[in-house]
Amino acid sequence: MITTRMDPEKARWIGTGIPPRLRGLTLNDVEELEGQSDAVRKARTFVEGYRAQQSKNWRGLPVNPNVFGRGLLFAGHPGTGKTTLAAAILCELRRRWGITIYSTRYTDHIERERRILRQDDSVDPEQLSQWMYAVERVQWADVVLLDDVGHEHSTASKYAEDTLEKLLRQRYDEGRPTLITTNLSGDDWANRYSKPLRSFMDQCTRREIFTGDSYRRGDQ
Ligand SMILES: Nc1ncnc2c1ncn2[C@@H]1O[C@H](COP(=O)(O)OP(=O)(O)O)[C@@H](O)[C@H]1O
Ligand SMILES: [Mg+2]
Repeated sequence: MITTRMDPEKARWIGTGIPPRLRGLTLNDVEELEGQSDAVRKARTFVEGYRAQQSKNWRGLPVNPNVFGRGLLFAGHPGTGKTTLAAAILCELRRRWGITIYSTRYTDHIERERRILRQDDSVDPEQLSQWMYAVERVQWADVVLLDDVGHEHSTASKYAEDTLEKLLRQRYDEGRPTLITTNLSGDDWANRYSKPLRSFMDQCTRREIFTGDSYRRGDQ
């Protein structure tokens, strides 16, 4: 008999899109890495405050409309710990509040959407249903991480840019926070996407700048 061994704690994270090396990460784990202590502290506040931020009154209206559905935007150079901290936040949110979470590189999300649109008879139905599962998660999970926004291929049709705007507005209107990591600066962002989206970002996320250079050896 073949037995596949998998750490049961890690197995709980299958279907969340979180890369295996980051599954089950805690904020304490990130704290031990000792960098970006400001961002880590704010991440903790976000996790602790999630329930209050998302609470509704007896009429179903947000108690705190200014923060309801608001996510986080992590901007900074590659290797400064953005993905690590964002993944830890997702893991902590799920553990602490039992909510649904999903993580994807934005490039992968765009690729899946393109393939679903372009599907023909040669597409394996199993594969197609996996793409659709992932796309639905990105739309409907309580909290989603879009990792490395700005890395996706830009085309004349502006498909990736329009999809981002639609997705962020839809999630925000539904009151579902989105976490974003990016290497783009504010000006890069306005040039690549649009000024209206740039200013909408300030409404639907709280910006956190990851300072300094890469922690990855060999990046410098
Ligand atoms: N807060 C931190 N302090 C020190 N090192 C960190 C921290 N967060 C992540 N690292 C290390 O830095 C490297 C890059 O982290 P990553 O999260 O992939 O960065 P980014 O997403 O900004 O490119 C990883 O090897 C990781 O172990
Ligand atoms: Mg990253």
